[in-house]
Amino acid sequence: MTTDIIAPPTVGQTKNLIAGQWIDAQSGETFDTYSPSTGRAIARVASGDSNDINQAVTAARKAFESGPWPKMSARDRGKLLFKLADLIEENAQELAALEVLNNGKPISEVLAADIPLMISTFRYYAGWADKVYGETIPVDAPGYFCYTRKEPVGVCGQIIPWNFPMLMLTWKWAPALASGCTMVLKPAEQTPLTALRLGELAVEAGIPKGVINIVNGFGETAGDALVKHPGVDKIAFTGEYKTAQIIMANAAPTLKRLTFELGGKSPNVVFADADLNKAVAGAMAGIFFNQGEVCCAGSRLFIEEEIHDEFVSRFSDAADARKVGDPFDTSTEQGAQVSKEQFDKVMSYIELGKQEANCVAGGESVGDKGWFVRPTIFTNVQNDMRIAQEEIFGPVVSVIPFKDTNEVIEQSNTTIYGLAAAVWTRDISKAFRLSESMRAGTVWVNCYNTFDAGAPFGGYKYSGQGRECGKDALNNYLETKTVWVNTN
Ligand code: NAI
Ligand code: MG
Repeated sequence: MTTDIIAPPTVGQTKNLIAGQWIDAQSGETFDTYSPSTGRAIARVASGDSNDINQAVTAARKAFESGPWPKMSARDRGKLLFKLADLIEENAQELAALEVLNNGKPISEVLAADIPLMISTFRYYAGWADKVYGETIPVDAPGYFCYTRKEPVGVCGQIIPWNFPMLMLTWKWAPALASGCTMVLKPAEQTPLTALRLGELAVEAGIPKGVINIVNGFGETAGDALVKHPGVDKIAFTGEYKTAQIIMANAAPTLKRLTFELGGKSPNVVFADADLNKAVAGAMAGIFFNQGEVCCAGSRLFIEEEIHDEFVSRFSDAADARKVGDPFDTSTEQGAQVSKEQFDKVMSYIELGKQEANCVAGGESVGDKGWFVRPTIFTNVQNDMRIAQEEIFGPVVSVIPFKDTNEVIEQSNTTIYGLAAAVWTRDISKAFRLSESMRAGTVWVNCYNTFDAGAPFGGYKYSGQGRECGKDALNNYLETKTVWVNTN
């Protein structure tokens, strides 16, 4: 691969977007945002609180109730989503570089994964906009005509994390826009910059003012105010399950609709009859993609005993060979962890792992600036150890040997989470048996981390509630109205 260093972009927008205007926080407060690959502050961003949230919710309510948005035809709404997708495509290089700057992920991955997925998601939901409609119901009441309408749920509060800042925004904006909702987005405090650039592109696309509002700030202030605001009909949240528990409690008094996409400790199961080359590559991508900051990361790797040693030897060679470093270098495979806090969390789990199990690859940080961690593999792990049960959200994997199918099914499901699972085998009955037995929202067979705008994604158990992507996600943003007409 040729090595090319992309120039870091200059930071543009740092204010909040409310009712189509870019404005400072009412308090005048700002917070620093960082470049994870240098550890340095790169910009000061408007720090919103309950006053800014109130202003944004008021704008979103007005746009929902009396702006051009509710009157616009669904087909025209679809056109605006297509336009936004086109603008993202035109500005892909700049958006990608800004994501790298603020998140630390490698440029090659943003261009290969995040950007194309965003564009296809906006286009997918653009196509849905004019295909949302109800049914006529053959009711047992002579002379009565009964039908349903699908109506937008209203003002949506959207709270997103820092691991895929642009893609998580897209998974929230696209179905909400297609359904005719209006929204207030609260980006993660670690990674606000690309959301603001996308806000500018939404304005440029012609999405009416007040439909999309963005308030930056912290979870405990801006996020909390959004969850509690009586003018918000629904909250869509992605992040830690402990935060979701707080949100659920805080949303209870106003009975908001809630959807959650939360964490995981996903089992990746390799049988002895699998294609080992593919399984090793799949295990690598499964855990180390995006520095391991992936909700569906294959962080528990179950290996059938008879291939265990050979698998571990190939897997650790591949991990040792992985290129970790400057995310602006096009040949870099793994960038920096998002923040000092996450870096410290990952390193403390690595220290714990060294006490509980065997470290056969990595186990250390890289360099003296920025927040880089070597791909780390623990073997001799038991499923009940803390490193096998707690979400580390970094490039750290627990290898757990197994003897038979029943045992591995039982162990795979022994977790509070249920976001994803994978199985590697050439035996089709085993593949089906595991896909049915895994209590997880996505099961990958002989692959890992495949995503599509049309494929529902979300969790069982503590991994979430509701699904993003696909037709399922539209329903999160719709109410069903039943209309009875007496024609007698
Ligand atoms: P978090 O769940 O606290 O933050 C996610 C978003 O929620 C951010 O925008 C944050 O500002 C907001 N938030 C935080 N507290 C809130 C509150 N009380 N009310 C409303 N909004 C609130 O996640 P955090 O603290 O950044 O990371 C902690 C751990 O969570 C990570 O180490 C990782 O294990 C997990 N995580 C999982 C993610 C996933 O995709 N499933 C994404 C990010 C983190
Ligand atoms: Mg938190």
